[in-house]
Amino acid sequence: MLTVAVLISGTGSNLRALLEAASDPSYPARVVVVGADRMAEGLQHAADFGVPSFTVPFREFASREEWGAELADQLRAWQPDLIVLSGLMRLLPRDVVAEFAPNIINTHPAYLPEFPGAHGVRDALAAGAEQTGASVILVDDGVDTGPILAQERVPVFPGDTEDSLHDRIKPVERRLLIDVVRRVATGELDLSHPA
Ligand code: GAR
Repeated sequence: MLTVAVLISGTGSNLRALLEAASDPSYPARVVVVGADRMAEGLQHAADFGVPSFTVPFREFASREEWGAELADQLRAWQPDLIVLSGLMRLLPRDVVAEFAPNIINTHPAYLPEFPGAHGVRDALAAGAEQTGASVILVDDGVDTGPILAQERVPVFPGDTEDSLHDRIKPVERRLLIDVVRRVATGELDLSHPA
């Protein structure tokens, strides 16, 4: 059974979808802990599923490195096989990536390498793109630059707002994330040698 730690910043709807998938006994992974960089709304999903959670508030640390060191301490205590960044809106410090790589993946609401960064949906709309997408990638030291593990196109419709487009992307992200975690758990996908 693959053990998974999920890190969030916001509403955690993708986290909830993974918790639901993992509550099926035939799914080969379990979420063992949820962490956040603030008192995120999505921590409630962990409570709903009886999964422990922790918060390492970014704003209480003098530097990203100190925040990352505490985050790494918390993660280490759970010894997860895989860390999923599911809407964590912070860059992990280099030391944290180095310690846990290649077992860190990230979901992103765009068809990378198009529209990386914190505003993938807004940037696609601002660029007038006719299609965008969803991606699941390996985390490296860059901003959404790691190898792509799964991705799918999502159309942009005339009149779309950031919210309406994001609402169309998220179900695709969830499906990709659940499938990538499943493939890692079964050994079908080797994060040390992603194809
Ligand atoms: C998701 O769309 C995720 O891809 C995005 O934040 C959203 C979180 O939604 N992450 C990024 O943009 C990271 N660059 P959720 O909290 O409802 O799961």
